[in-house]
Amino acid sequence: MSKSASPMGPPAAEAATPFALIREPLEEVERQFLAELATATPGIAAIGDYLHSGGGKRLRPALLLLAAELCGARGPKMVALGTVVEMIHAATLIHDDVIDDAAIRRGRPSANTRWGARACVLAGDWLYMQAFSIALRQRHFAILDELIRLTETMVAGELRQQEMAGTVVTRQQHLDLIEAKTARLFAVCCKLGALSVGRAAEAATLERFGRELGIAFQMVDDILDFTASEDLLGKPVGNDLREGKMTLPALYAYERADRGQRRRMELVMREGYATVGLAEIRELLAETGALERAMTEAREHAAAAQDLLVGFPPSVWREAMMALPMLAVERMH
Ligand code: IPE
Ligand code: IPE
Ligand code: MG
Ligand code: MG
Repeated sequence: MSKSASPMGPPAAEAATPFALIREPLEEVERQFLAELATATPGIAAIGDYLHSGGGKRLRPALLLLAAELCGARGPKMVALGTVVEMIHAATLIHDDVIDDAAIRRGRPSANTRWGARACVLAGDWLYMQAFSIALRQRHFAILDELIRLTETMVAGELRQQEMAGTVVTRQQHLDLIEAKTARLFAVCCKLGALSVGRAAEAATLERFGRELGIAFQMVDDILDFTASEDLLGKPVGNDLREGKMTLPALYAYERADRGQRRRMELVMREGYATVGLAEIRELLAETGALERAMTEAREHAAAAQDLLVGFPPSVWREAMMALPMLAVERMH
């Protein structure tokens, strides 16, 4: 992992993080990811390499490896599945930045800024198919089935997000959306190891853990979109409302806002920050208690995730998994 790829904290703190436990298989995931990419046509490989070397927390393969260890699953098959989930994630990021018209990703100009949307659509397609191709080598059809249904759900989620853009959605519609676009992948990461060794009961519990963690993670991503800086996040800030997306903090602010304030938010959803600045929106979110409310909700999902692990026998793996939800909600980027 590169320096900026250090998970949810500065490199100095790495030894203390759950990621230290799986440093070696994670490094193998890095190697396999790059080796698979090298088989692509140069134009695709360049885009994939560029995104991958920009950093990233590698949270999904880390989750997969830790959850697998909890069920005694390890070795090359788990490394391959770690590569698969990071590759699916990479494909969604490349497509997402085209869809969101985002100019920055992982602290650098986004791939669409450098290569254009057309090449990026194709590179994302290739990454999806390569991910399935790696998974297919395991000849484990339940796993393949999970991955295909997952991808369909994520794609449907992104499409639904487009359809809902510019409208004030209900809290439930929003929760369904973040479950589809983000939490399903976390859930699948957590269950694949258990599935591969035929532990159905554990797979179901770990799936629920991943779902709660994923919901908390996306809620915090949506909060950071308002509160963090572009430098810290390595991606654009204030982008969600500008794109017409009513995330949880925005929904809560809108709920408590007066008519004039609502108009100001609607204006951003229509025309971006041309008339109303991001600073004004940030103030509105703080003043209405929306950020705090969304953060409390993220913490509740994180706590629910932790509770799901109590039935597993105590181990370093369980402790590491237990630590992840709070790391995810207290993160700064
Ligand atoms: C970004 O995921 C997409 C979301 C689901 C919010 P990450 O925040 O894990 O992105 P990287 O991989 O660390 O860049
Ligand atoms: C992430 O949603 C959904 C994906 C499946 C990539 P966002 O649009 O909030 O992700 P970022 O903030 O661009 O990383
Ligand atoms: Mg985006
Ligand atoms: Mg976001």
